[in-house]
Amino acid sequence: MTDRYCVLGNPVAHSRSPAIHAQFAAQCGQDMGYEAVLAPLNGFAVTVAQFIAAGGKGANVTVPFKEEAFRLSTRRSARAERAGAVNTLVFGADEIFGDNTDGAGLVRDIEANRGIALAGKRILLLGAGGAARGALAPLLECRPAGLAIANRTADKAAALAAGFADLAAVDAGNYADFAGRTFDVVINATSASLAGAALPLPAGLFAPDSLAYDMMYGKGETPFLALARAQGAARRADGLGMLVEQAAEAFLVWRGVRPDTAPVLAALRAQIAA
Ligand code: ATR
Repeated sequence: MTDRYCVLGNPVAHSRSPAIHAQFAAQCGQDMGYEAVLAPLNGFAVTVAQFIAAGGKGANVTVPFKEEAFRLSTRRSARAERAGAVNTLVFGADEIFGDNTDGAGLVRDIEANRGIALAGKRILLLGAGGAARGALAPLLECRPAGLAIANRTADKAAALAAGFADLAAVDAGNYADFAGRTFDVVINATSASLAGAALPLPAGLFAPDSLAYDMMYGKGETPFLALARAQGAARRADGLGMLVEQAAEAFLVWRGVRPDTAPVLAALRAQIAA
């Protein structure tokens, strides 16, 4: 019988996950289906229960349900605990296992796809919301020379840094606080561009050979990457690779095989550019 998976979100119709997982399944010869399921804003748990009752084996979770999926999980991976959010569910006989593959997807896109080792690098993370929190532990595990968090609301950056103090000393402040500092990797984990806002970054943050990484993606260059280019960041990447890599990591969790992401990312890139 074909194993069933889905992505749960609201909205969810725009999700690229069904197309990505269909390609992974075909490539790896896995007998599985993957659909998009719209959960009502006040009906996430009920929708999960219905999907399990219908024979569902697992699910991805997207906006705005990642924290609710965390609470619904009866067992969680260490990386999900650190992220405080769950984007991958595995439905067992008597448990709901919650995992988070977002940070791993980010690191894999930077290190494996872009060929940039994070060990020894000076990293600046922009933003202190859920996306930033999910990235922190996986980034710290790469042993960077240092990691700093800059956020519009400095207190939120400080609180986030404090939550990871057992792993490493993490600097925190608002954007202006980092004037005069230089970084090898600058990652945009804010949602500012969704609101059409530009981040007030001080000049000089980007080392000449630095990587600017935007977790967002779109048809053209994102506002953050345009700003990074203007400020001299030599290498720039949007979040499409992260999207495909977090999916591959979820596929690995469910099926025990890691798909080849390169052709899937190339197809998606062509589709978005069209
Ligand atoms: P997510 O789960 O995507 O991280 P979130 O938890 O709401 O969403 O966090 C959004 C992040 O984007 C925060 O860091 C937020 O900054 P504040 O903590 O100061 O609110 C940041 N952000 C959103 N809109 C922004 C804007 N217009 N300018 C700067 N930062 C913005």
